[in-house]
Amino acid sequence: MKIKSLFSTALLTVGIALGSCSKQVDRPIQITPMPNSLVASKGAFEINQSTVIIAKTADELKVANYLVSKLATPMGFELTVQTETPTANFICFTIDKNASDNSEGYKLNVASDKVSIVAPTAKGLFYGVQSALQLLPPAVESATLVPGTSWTMHNVFIQDAPRFAYRGMHIDVCRHFMPVETLKRQLDMMAMLKLNTFHWHLTEDQGWRIEIKAFPKLTEIGSQRVEGDGTTYGGFYTQQEVKEIVKYAADRMIEVIPEIELPGHALAALTAYPEYSCTGGPFKVRNIWGVEPDVYCAGKEATFDFINKIIDEVAPLFPSKYFHIGGDECPKVRWEKCPLCQRRMRNEGLKNEHELQSYFVQRVQKMLTKHGKNMIGWDEILEGGLAPSAIVMSWRGEKGGIEAANQGHDVIMTPGAWCYLDHYQGDSQVEPVAIGGYATLEKTYSYNPVPQELDASKAKHILGTQGNVWTEYMYTPAILEYRVYPRIIALAEIGWTETEKKNYTDFETRLNNLYPRMDAHEINYHIPMPEGPCEHLAFIDTTSVAFSTTMPMNMVFTTDGTAPTATSRTYTGPLHITETTTIKIASVLPTGKMSPIRTVLVEKQPFSPASKVKTTQEGLNEKIALGHFNKVADLDQVQTWKEVKTTNSYDLNKPSASILTGYIDIPEAGIYEFNTDVDQLFLDGTLLVNNDGEVKRFSRHRAQKALAAGKHKVKILFLNNIVGGWPAAWNGVKISMKRAGDKDFTTIKATQFSH
Ligand code: ACM
Ligand code: ZN
Repeated sequence: MKIKSLFSTALLTVGIALGSCSKQVDRPIQITPMPNSLVASKGAFEINQSTVIIAKTADELKVANYLVSKLATPMGFELTVQTETPTANFICFTIDKNASDNSEGYKLNVASDKVSIVAPTAKGLFYGVQSALQLLPPAVESATLVPGTSWTMHNVFIQDAPRFAYRGMHIDVCRHFMPVETLKRQLDMMAMLKLNTFHWHLTEDQGWRIEIKAFPKLTEIGSQRVEGDGTTYGGFYTQQEVKEIVKYAADRMIEVIPEIELPGHALAALTAYPEYSCTGGPFKVRNIWGVEPDVYCAGKEATFDFINKIIDEVAPLFPSKYFHIGGDECPKVRWEKCPLCQRRMRNEGLKNEHELQSYFVQRVQKMLTKHGKNMIGWDEILEGGLAPSAIVMSWRGEKGGIEAANQGHDVIMTPGAWCYLDHYQGDSQVEPVAIGGYATLEKTYSYNPVPQELDASKAKHILGTQGNVWTEYMYTPAILEYRVYPRIIALAEIGWTETEKKNYTDFETRLNNLYPRMDAHEINYHIPMPEGPCEHLAFIDTTSVAFSTTMPMNMVFTTDGTAPTATSRTYTGPLHITETTTIKIASVLPTGKMSPIRTVLVEKQPFSPASKVKTTQEGLNEKIALGHFNKVADLDQVQTWKEVKTTNSYDLNKPSASILTGYIDIPEAGIYEFNTDVDQLFLDGTLLVNNDGEVKRFSRHRAQKALAAGKHKVKILFLNNIVGGWPAAWNGVKISMKRAGDKDFTTIKATQFSH
């Protein structure tokens, strides 16, 4: 039979016979990840109360029961599962080991009178079901009854199997804890996307999140941290909850791989049990991002006993044959100074601390082997030598993955530039604060896990790919989902669909079938925002304001101060502005769902006049008050300010507030745009940039001002505090500016300021 692929954008209109009347099904076929072979034909199958499911073996029954319970809520009836095959109106599940040479493959045949799903395993059947569900109306994902829906599916013949065996999503529940319900929601989505691995990052410098009965302080102490604002943050999973998640995942054909980080990223554990560090502590669970220098002591036997007992408890909770030990970003500063670590190196003949790390990791690998587990680690585990059976997760680009594959290790490719879902997916001015980086949906979609440089004979070592969800800047489940979706969908397609079947434009169109399904699961997915101008523009006579989006999107806007709705004026091109105007603008999906609204003030201004003041000294004048200040309003409590010589050096362990004043020299009249992460910037007596109370990174509040040539009064409020894990001391006081219309900002030099 000739199999031809059909891009799902082709709209199929099919009629089906329903008694005497004929129904039209005008939904396009949109399955994601794109099946590797799909042939559509005329006609459709309708599921109704008389439809039966045929399943004979235990594995067939398992998937049949999944489908029955999945359909029961939206449809309001439970399909009967039976072994006898009627003449028509049935869905037949068959496990046949000859159905595909890939254990996850399946064949789905939808005909007007019956549906058949044949696969070599229950997993393959399950993926056949997922494709079938995407043929049904999106209402099939509803958590409530959807009356009046005709549950029809286009007639198709799909023969499908994944490109890669490993298709994962990683979630860091340590920087921010994610409730069990949030994880279950992600597992539901993963099942829909045929992702098969959940990599659960359970321990970190910033929190230990899994109950260990032998070491109760790991969660009593290690799961809690005192944030920069003095509040306590924490959470952990009991072993019962871990089992619940593992079972929930297994029911969706998802394997859960735990990650217990070592020898670095271990400060939460060491805060609870400082005796396993080199210095003995005491420590505090880290409340700022970045990497902690205190790590497990590699010189003490007790450290290995401790880790061994933890593994003895964790390993049996997870049926997966894999176990992730982290291994990334382990500073060696403590080992260099620790007599026990140095003695270990001498005794074991280890040349340097990298070899000591390798020694550490290989000892842990032996502990895992005892439990029948294969070790996975981040690509640093290659440094200093590694046992061949270890699997390398390449994150620092593709280099580690290539090197590992060349050495004969299996590899999971998760290079940051494409697979780190904590990166920005739009302009940092309009997106919630992120860790940095920039990967639009299109960029992520462009990734190929088999690097070009890799010799074809080594490609078999690439097990697959994974989206990594680091949660430093994912303060809530909603922000996590905002960053993850839809980029994880792109990664799911990369993991499943053969390269020649991938097509980004088609993928974008197919998302239209997933948006309402994500809505049904209450997933807070990203909708590209109107980008372009900063939130406060200035102009003299007239100006033109242009918006764009990272994906083709409809944008709607108002200029009367009201919030736009899906039916507001459509943006068709740059807006010509002659008077001070507030633009409120949002993007809209075909479903009518809107992005958050952006507000842009476009202000007609005279040039702000220069001051005639005579200044005598370079730089700004600074006065400082010691103490914890979370917000600008807290400065009201300051009794005395102390004048200091400005050094722009702040100690994050000595919280303080500074007021810097003086003048900036503007060489030429013009419209200037300012960008800064300080708390507040005033220019000529008006508040221009206000980051008060926000995470002071990648400020979302750039602003323009029309300035005459000459000196202009500057006031800066800078709180040396920690907000959302980011210490302002890491910024210092830095103001950047550019002429409106220029591309790049330049940092204002001390010589441009005076007082
Ligand atoms: C990592 O991102 N440190 C694995
Ligand atoms: Zn040591």
